[in-house]
Amino acid sequence: RIVYVNGAYVPEEEAKVSVFDRGFLMADGVYEVTSVLGGKLLDFAGHARRLDRSLRELGMEMPMSEADLLAIHRELVARNDVVDGMVYLQITRGNPGDRDFAFPPAGTPLTVVLFTQSKPGLADNPQAKTGLRVISIEDIRWGRRDIKTVQLLYPSMGKMMAKKAGVDDAWFVEDGFVTEGTSNNAYIVSGGKIITRNLGSDILHGITRAAVLRFAAEAQMEVEERPFTLAEAHAADEAFITSASAFVMPVVELDGQKIGAGAPGPVAKRLREIYLDESR
Ligand code: PDD
Repeated sequence: RIVYVNGAYVPEEEAKVSVFDRGFLMADGVYEVTSVLGGKLLDFAGHARRLDRSLRELGMEMPMSEADLLAIHRELVARNDVVDGMVYLQITRGNPGDRDFAFPPAGTPLTVVLFTQSKPGLADNPQAKTGLRVISIEDIRWGRRDIKTVQLLYPSMGKMMAKKAGVDDAWFVEDGFVTEGTSNNAYIVSGGKIITRNLGSDILHGITRAAVLRFAAEAQMEVEERPFTLAEAHAADEAFITSASAFVMPVVELDGQKIGAGAPGPVAKRLREIYLDESR
């Protein structure tokens, strides 16, 4: 596989980042995941905009223009023959030479890394037919979940708690309200309404979320952006998640109890269809 590191395209075995890099020492960095379907990047502009925001919120700046970033994405997709899969991008605060809590001086070059992952048949994931089973776990992440940082330890632990419980994923819960999934946004459907948490610093502003809510509105579906409780989720007619890599994925079980009929619901199925149709 050919990867991109600080201006160069190199075989993955030859790619190098310093041990002093603040991404490595302090998780001081941000990332984006952009899906590729049929060789085409999905919603690149949305991901680039969020990247710009994440960087600014942490006192960094886009190290190149959006057009140059797009060119690197396309180059990697082409060089690695990615048909279905994703492009991962990570920007960290670079290598100041010594470990120090204070940020390095302005002008210290950021570390920019991109690589691809192929996932043939990404859009035909059989889990879309069966639905996901999730558990709820306490949301003990930091308070700026709107910034897409590489601090993914607790989400990884959440995923492992789910695995240990024999299910697919976990939903984070704070003060009785669902925030989001370990790596996706969470939704329920109740009384014909699609309910998902409103944007704030307590969830990531999903690019897929924005697209799906737009498609839902265009299809005259009713959407309510507000926090929902775990009890509401248990009583819901259906549930689903969205993310760049999962698109729209039904959720059929929560903490061992079926949601609705315990099978993918019509709203989730329809939104998945619309999203994939519009993306291809
Ligand atoms: N995760 N919430 C969290 C905590 C996430 O990590 C993600 C994305 C989302 C959905 O955002 P988007 O629709 O822009 O992908 C919501 C990516 C896919 C990941 O970490 O691999």
